[in-house]
Amino acid sequence: MSWEDGFHFELPDETRAIADVARTFAQGKVLPEAARLDREHAFPQALVDEMGTLGFMGMSCPELYGGTESSTVAYCMVIEELAAACASTSIIMSAHNSLCVAPIASFGTEAQKTTYLPGLASGAQLGCFALSEPGVGSDAASLSCSVRREGDSYIVQGAKNWITNGPKADVVVLFAMQDASKGSKGVSAFVHPLDLPGVSRGKAEDKLGIRGSPTCGLTYDGVRLGKEHLLGNEGDGFRIAMQTLNGGRLGVAAQAIGIARAALRDALAYAQQRCTFGKPISQHQMIQHYLAEMITRIDAARYLTLSAAHRKDRGETYIREAAMAKLFASEAASYCADRGLQIHGGYGYVTDYPAERHLRDARITEIYEGTSEIQRLVIAGQLLKEWQG
Ligand code: CAA
Repeated sequence: MSWEDGFHFELPDETRAIADVARTFAQGKVLPEAARLDREHAFPQALVDEMGTLGFMGMSCPELYGGTESSTVAYCMVIEELAAACASTSIIMSAHNSLCVAPIASFGTEAQKTTYLPGLASGAQLGCFALSEPGVGSDAASLSCSVRREGDSYIVQGAKNWITNGPKADVVVLFAMQDASKGSKGVSAFVHPLDLPGVSRGKAEDKLGIRGSPTCGLTYDGVRLGKEHLLGNEGDGFRIAMQTLNGGRLGVAAQAIGIARAALRDALAYAQQRCTFGKPISQHQMIQHYLAEMITRIDAARYLTLSAAHRKDRGETYIREAAMAKLFASEAASYCADRGLQIHGGYGYVTDYPAERHLRDARITEIYEGTSEIQRLVIAGQLLKEWQG
């Protein structure tokens, strides 16, 4: 038992075993690559291939279609381990599972599942999710990328933005507005391969952090999709997007915990070897105050996240709990990365130490899959619905 095993509820042996495999892989193979991936903006193809072999790319996929069909608790624990080694690698795996594999598994037809899931679950193919647009992020029901029926086909026109995995993905779950007069009920969802005529990818974004995780926009220029690409029924798109994001938020919460853990790990190591005023800085009360705050927030974030994941596994509603986990964990990650950097002093501000990378990586967790402002809206909205008086 180490300070990193801060969750002491009873967990099935199988869940602990999966997390152990993830920790061994993450610390042995992912961590040594993390600085280079960040520096070179490099996509970790070899690590993705190995995550496919380990079953991590199919954690949200039923065994019937080649996945490992893990519990959400195990899924979160694996993401945390990956993120404690490399935030980029963790979000590649998490966006693929949460935002592409999961909606196909939950809402796809039998034909869609057999077409897409085996390749995605093995890691041979990579998935992504296209909801946001250049002019639409938080207000997800106001999409301007449009789709219209033409006989048995659907014609898609418009642009999507901030697509995690976009530059490398093979399959996308797409959301487009079919009938703007119906608002959120006018959105339809599709799943299709990305190599269709009329689909083009924008430049890979030059981001502050998670620089090994590639992001781009997509342009749809009169793209013709067939009925076989429609996910759910016409008009189901917003519901599919929201339910998908509920699950995705747990993945981002787990990622944030992993980043926070990395920041604390590095700060602890530094604070014990760096001396000022004749003693290691870990012996100074101000530094101890930061370390105490960091571990407390990490453990609290993990309890929130695994408790919400457990609700999902039990089939209970978890919308508020997932939003609370993401909100708290992402703000904890930013706090821990910031204090971790502060503990390093000037060394925290240069790239010789990973402290500055943790701060850059943490920041996105407060933005993607719903900003902290949106999480607060979701939490309050659900609370008011739950309030019985
Ligand atoms: N879970 C399930 N259902 C939900 C839901 C949720 N979290 N949120 C809303 N719904 C349902 C509502 O119950 C309602 O259903 P009915 O019509 O049947 O009553 C319907 O959806 C419409 O709900 P609202 O009226 O509340 O919708 P709204 O337009 O006011 O928006 C919102 C609500 C919470 C702000 C929503 O737009 C939202 O979550 N926005 C954030 C979007 C987001 O997270 N974007 C991230 C992009 S993905 C990404 O980051 C890319 C990547 O690659 C990482």
